[in-house]
Amino acid sequence: MSRKLLIALPKGRLLEQSTALMAKAGITVANGEGSRQLFIEDLEKLFRFVMLKPVDIPVYVESGVIDAGICGSDILRELESDVNEPLDLQIGRCSLVVAGPADKEVSYRRNIHVATKYPRTAARFFKGKNAHVHIVKLDGSVEIAPLLGLADVIVDLVETGRTLRDNGMRVIEEIAPVSAKLIVNRTSMKIKAKQVNHLITQFDRVVYADT
Ligand code: PRP
Repeated sequence: MSRKLLIALPKGRLLEQSTALMAKAGITVANGEGSRQLFIEDLEKLFRFVMLKPVDIPVYVESGVIDAGICGSDILRELESDVNEPLDLQIGRCSLVVAGPADKEVSYRRNIHVATKYPRTAARFFKGKNAHVHIVKLDGSVEIAPLLGLADVIVDLVETGRTLRDNGMRVIEEIAPVSAKLIVNRTSMKIKAKQVNHLITQFDRVVYADT
């Protein structure tokens, strides 16, 4: 088995912040712009990286075929994966919220419809409020659902608040703050302890440099 750590990086909006953080930590990935290569290495060849859809990262890391990854706490909360979360990377900060049309009062007491990419998180949240809701699972552009009448409210991420504002919606309440975490497979944590600790120390130094 390779002793080199295999690390999953999230495609999409977290990728730029992830590679910037790695660069600050002295880990530079040699990926040609626009490359479709699946595996890449850092310049010092200490690690191997693979780019994955964020929602798949905890699945791979829990299984152990990938040692570690960078993943948003929104996804970790939704999947409840059995992985170690040794470090909050303090990037990708946003908020998981309940939001609805700005011009309507929404009561959780009615049998409301909730559109979301996070069905389990939403179900848990409303159960905790003793509210009986119908969850409508969507895969993106969730804000459109109340506008078209598919749902009364949404559970989704808000970063700048611009998408909500531009679509006449408002935050009703926050479910949880969100940020990206370093996640590590439980077995890799033990059998590749030296490499994992090296990685954690490198990240830790830059994440908490100013505190
Ligand atoms: C996310 C989220 C909101 C938007 C919030 O969507 O689901 O739609 O960003 O950002 P804002 O508060 O800065 O406007 P994303 O762009 O990831 O795409 P998606 O709608 O396909 O999930």
